[in-house]
Amino acid sequence: MNSEQAKQVAAKAALVHIRGYDIIGVGSGSTVRHFITALEPSARRLKGAVASSADTARRLEAIGVDVIDLNEAGTLPVYVDGADEATRHGHLIKGGGGALTREKIIAAASRRFICMIHRPKLVDVLGDFGLPIEVIPMARSYVARELSARGGRPEWREGFVTDNGNHIIDIKNLRITDPPGLEAEFGQIAGVVTVGLFAHRGADVLLVADEVQAQTLIP
Ligand code: A5P
Repeated sequence: MNSEQAKQVAAKAALVHIRGYDIIGVGSGSTVRHFITALEPSARRLKGAVASSADTARRLEAIGVDVIDLNEAGTLPVYVDGADEATRHGHLIKGGGGALTREKIIAAASRRFICMIHRPKLVDVLGDFGLPIEVIPMARSYVARELSARGGRPEWREGFVTDNGNHIIDIKNLRITDPPGLEAEFGQIAGVVTVGLFAHRGADVLLVADEVQAQTLIP
C-alpha cells in the first residue's frame, strides 16, 4: 500500500465532517498534514482552529487559519486527528509524534472526534505499536519500573522533549485487551501525565482509507 496516498484519501474524507463548523480542533502528524493541505481552499471560512502542536499551529497559520487558545474557544464541535492504531470500537493508540497530551485535551473538549487512518492501522487488538506515555522528567525511571512490574517493556524515547517539556516512554510488548482498564491503570501511576490510549474518549467516527477510497466506521 502507498501509505502517503492512503493518508491523503483519509484526510480528504474528513473535510465533509467539518462542513458547517467555523471553529475546529486539529491534531498532529502526517495524516493531519494532508488534512491541512486539503483544507487550504476552504480555510478562509473558518473563524479559527485549536491546534494540538506547535507544528500544526504553524501549518494552519500558513494557510490563513487563525490559531486560537482552547480556553477562549470553549467546547469544540469537532476534532480531526490521526492515530497510530485503532480498533473498530474507536479505541486508539496515539502519541507516535509525541503530542498526545494536547491531543487528549482537545479530544476531551470536543463533541465529535473524527479519526483518519489508513487501513494497516486498523487492528483487532491494540499494542503492536508501542504505547506512548508522557511523564514528568524526574519520574521517568520510577514510572518505567512500575510499567515493567505490570508486564510492559518500557523504552525511553531518548532525546525527545514534548511541547510541555516532558519525556516519553514507549511501552512495547503489550496486548491491550481492555483499553479503558489499562488507560485508567497506567494513568494512576504517579508522574504519568498522559497515557496514549484513547479509550474513555475514543473516536466517534473512524475514516479508514486505502489509496482509492475511505470507509466510514461508526464505533
Ligand atoms: C501525534 O502525537 C500522534 O498521536 C498522531 O496523531 C499519530 O501518531 C498519527 O500520526 P501519522 O498520521 O503521522 O501516522
